[in-house]
Amino acid sequence: MRKQIAAANWKMNNTLEEGTKLLNEIVGADIQLSDNQFAIFAVPFPYLIIADQQVGDKSNMFIAAQNCHNKMAGAYTGEVSVDMLASIHIHYCVVGHSERREYFLETNQQLAEKVDRCLEKGITPIFCCGEPLAIREAGTQNDYVSVQLNESLFHLDAEAIQKVVIAYEPIWAIGTGKTATATQAQEMHAHIRSVLSNQFGEGVAANISILYGGSVKGANAKEIFSQPDVDGGLVGGASLISSEFVQIINALK
Ligand code: PGA
Repeated sequence: MRKQIAAANWKMNNTLEEGTKLLNEIVGADIQLSDNQFAIFAVPFPYLIIADQQVGDKSNMFIAAQNCHNKMAGAYTGEVSVDMLASIHIHYCVVGHSERREYFLETNQQLAEKVDRCLEKGITPIFCCGEPLAIREAGTQNDYVSVQLNESLFHLDAEAIQKVVIAYEPIWAIGTGKTATATQAQEMHAHIRSVLSNQFGEGVAANISILYGGSVKGANAKEIFSQPDVDGGLVGGASLISSEFVQIINALK
């Protein structure tokens, strides 16, 4: 059975005090996670250790980094390596968020390296893909996402790809309040799964969790997550409000 995941992406938000309060409220809320359901919190680097202590041994709740460097170590001032993340027991890392691609010019090739570095250290990459508005309007979103998957993930073997979580995030739906419809999400998720199936085989593709991201809220999570190829969500804005995110976790199937 595929993992169902509600992943919070705090981005560059929350002071330590605000973040601690938010996480405490969620960890302390009435949430029943079954064996295949997970809640993951991608918090800013300075809070990783303390947030990990906060979730403690709460079952199926984990802390994630929002980024890592594509090299293991060296003269890269200001950067954070997967070796560092592994040394503080972080098991998940968001890779290739569209904001990283847009503002920090991360390329598919660099992201392939980041995926490799994560897997080398036993960290699950949450690999983000998704098209900008102009591509959606031109109707070429399937090809666009295929190229992202091809150039960043197709060098992996069948065993390694099953350690990757994919997040489909149409850029036009991120932070805009304009969610893809459940049908649009399902269509793209089915496309991604068929691309994975062609490359790695049907059984492998069936094991890979594909999350939807882009204006997921408490009110729409259930409908989106109920789609057969949608295995949860990567959530920005609504993950900053404890009651919203608890509702989103509880909408996992
Ligand atoms: P949003 O962000 O939920 O605020 O649209 C999603 C994301 O960027 O991961």
